[in-house]
Amino acid sequence: MTDLPFRRPTLPVELRVADLLSRMTLEEKAGQLTQYFHLGIEVPEGLDIDALPAEQRAYAEQPKVVSDAVRAGLTGSVLFVKEPSTANRMQRLAVEESRLGVPLLFGFDVIHGLRTIFPVPLALAATWSIDTIEAAQATAAREARSVGIHWSFAPMVDIARDPRWGRIIEGSGEDPVLGAAVAAAQVRGFQGNFGPSNILAGPKHFAGYGAARGGRDYDDAEISDSELWNVYLPPFRAAIEAGAVNVMSAYMDYNGVPASGNRRLLTDVLRNELGFDGFVVSDNNAVRSLETQHFAKDLTDAGVRALKAGVDMEMCMFNPAFSRLAQAVLDGLLEEKVIDEAVRRVLTVKFKLGLFEQPYVDEDAATEVLISTESRELAREAAEKSIVLLKNDGGALPLTTASLSSVAVIGQLGDSKRDTLGPWVFDHDTDETVTILEGLRSRIGDRVTVDYAPGAGIPPRVFPSMFDQMDASVVATPENYDDAAEVQQAVQLAARSDLAIVVVGQRQNQIGENASTSTLDLPGDQQEQLRQIVETGTPVVLVVMSGRPLDLRWADANVPAIVQTWYPGTRGGDAVASVLLGDTSPAGRLPFTWPRHVGQVPIVYSHYRTFAPGDQGARYWEEPSTPLYPFGYGLSYATFEYTNLRMDRTAVPVGESVTVFADVTNTSAVDADDVVQLYIHQRYGTSSRPVRELKAFERITIAAGQTRTVRFTLAPQDLRYWSAVTDGYVQDATTIDVWVGGSSSADLTTQFEVTDSDTGSDRGTA
Ligand code: NOJ
Repeated sequence: MTDLPFRRPTLPVELRVADLLSRMTLEEKAGQLTQYFHLGIEVPEGLDIDALPAEQRAYAEQPKVVSDAVRAGLTGSVLFVKEPSTANRMQRLAVEESRLGVPLLFGFDVIHGLRTIFPVPLALAATWSIDTIEAAQATAAREARSVGIHWSFAPMVDIARDPRWGRIIEGSGEDPVLGAAVAAAQVRGFQGNFGPSNILAGPKHFAGYGAARGGRDYDDAEISDSELWNVYLPPFRAAIEAGAVNVMSAYMDYNGVPASGNRRLLTDVLRNELGFDGFVVSDNNAVRSLETQHFAKDLTDAGVRALKAGVDMEMCMFNPAFSRLAQAVLDGLLEEKVIDEAVRRVLTVKFKLGLFEQPYVDEDAATEVLISTESRELAREAAEKSIVLLKNDGGALPLTTASLSSVAVIGQLGDSKRDTLGPWVFDHDTDETVTILEGLRSRIGDRVTVDYAPGAGIPPRVFPSMFDQMDASVVATPENYDDAAEVQQAVQLAARSDLAIVVVGQRQNQIGENASTSTLDLPGDQQEQLRQIVETGTPVVLVVMSGRPLDLRWADANVPAIVQTWYPGTRGGDAVASVLLGDTSPAGRLPFTWPRHVGQVPIVYSHYRTFAPGDQGARYWEEPSTPLYPFGYGLSYATFEYTNLRMDRTAVPVGESVTVFADVTNTSAVDADDVVQLYIHQRYGTSSRPVRELKAFERITIAAGQTRTVRFTLAPQDLRYWSAVTDGYVQDATTIDVWVGGSSSADLTTQFEVTDSDTGSDRGTA
């Protein structure tokens, strides 16, 4: 067995794959296409499993079902193993006990760090710092690989335009160009050059999951082709071009066909048009769900249709539909070559990762990697970069400790380690997490008294979060919490302090998967408490911990300083303290349009001009049409001036590039970062186009008093778009307006002409 051709590292991967494939039974092939959840359940010795109710029995039996399947060569991958010893134990079953010894591929949700927790993905996007994002995911990859994980189910690249949808927190917000840049950076960070500290990236969820109707998770999405190509696909395209070897299919019905059984999406679009040649994994139980969603007749039908549509591997907990594929071939429902093709893709990745040569993880090496202080420092830096200063009237921030002797920190989120980390963390060290209270105490506690009151309770979800049961450190407001008394104490503390830092927001389990919301109001009495604190006359700084925009109309009208911190991760509290104290000037920018209230949702900056373009037209009569804060917005302790917007030419033939320049001057006395953004608008053409579209950006550091020239090249692919008129991409001869500035409301503008009316259609090519 040891000298079979597929075992020889010197042979080309295609030959090794072909050789191995030729030795596999039909069942073993289908097994390679099956991925089981590792539930991490320890079944007590002597437990009478047969006496348990059906569902509990299924859970209790599952670990043995999985081990048996691995041993029999009937599973190719396992997810959710995070202990190196468990990974090696399972790997030994595959390598040493299965007939052909094909190693397992271990996948995991490494979303914003494994042990070192970075700010949540939406916050990473708010840094607009591509290098930081890449470095963060490279660190996450190193940690994950050290414990035996080969593959992350990330980045989540779904464009999200409805903040009621909880999964907005996992992506990069509303914009396809920002989303594409962030997606590619994450893929590069995870995959690197496929070295020993890298893991595979799996952009997800293909495609259109963020358009779930009403922002309700898993609900169907109806997406026109023009939205699909112009809005939802660019981040996937960028992730694929960056080399992602995996893509995860989505749950929801896409235009009436479940995404995980949707051949148009998974084959025509993903493979034929976007050129993806890796393997597709289904979302968890999404293949079985084809039956639940009343698309497939039964489990066999679900498996056959998912595979034929383009799913190569089924992720599941129990009873895989793909275990029926062998019989389906014998029954003439499926051709074996369809299975072979999927197996070929999966095996190629295993060979490419070197798993046949090195299937095991070094169990002793992980500790060193996981405790790295450099990783924690990077987490702090990323958190600092992600913080968005939403309001700062009268220079309320940064704080000057000279005039302060007592500070009150108020709010349950201000001292909750678990909430500071955000959702989608599984291997964190809660104890080492720095809360906002702790961060402030360690920064100014030697000079200033920093007192704390938890204040208003945060009411729990009406149904429990499916993640809470996996997490012993989840925090909730106790049932018998005396809200009125706690609010009163918080207000009294604020009244006797020089300054109140009021932390409001949602708990980490009120956002994420399965955590949609019908309101953007601050939960519970947080706003009423804020009002009472403001009434005391003590100056207030409002700190918002959330992964979606919340209704801050009252706060915006009544509180001088507002800071959006997201869920900032392991070193979050230190980062917040550093921004509040002015050790660093905030330069995070909103990756979405911040609505005034939930009734405006969905609201995006890149909307279309209407029949009545001004403020009077076609909007809600009781509320301004504008958002509370625009896309790309965020304040700084510095001031910047933009001048001298110019191009290398003002007439640009279709198919050619133009370079845009602008000068940015830091007119303040503070060194600071700025995020320079370039937007365009096309005045007329084959289709009408949004009033503004982000096309380029760069986060730069500008020393006090200095001027820097930024330079952006707009290539033909930046000027083309998908048109419903031609059913493909077009680049029009037209007039293009350009704006450069610090947000989507930038006002420095110029134009150029795109000449030659010869429009081309090249759908699907880059
Ligand atoms: C379901 C989620 O939709 C997906 O994003 C995740 O990767 C899998 N569960 C595995 O946890």
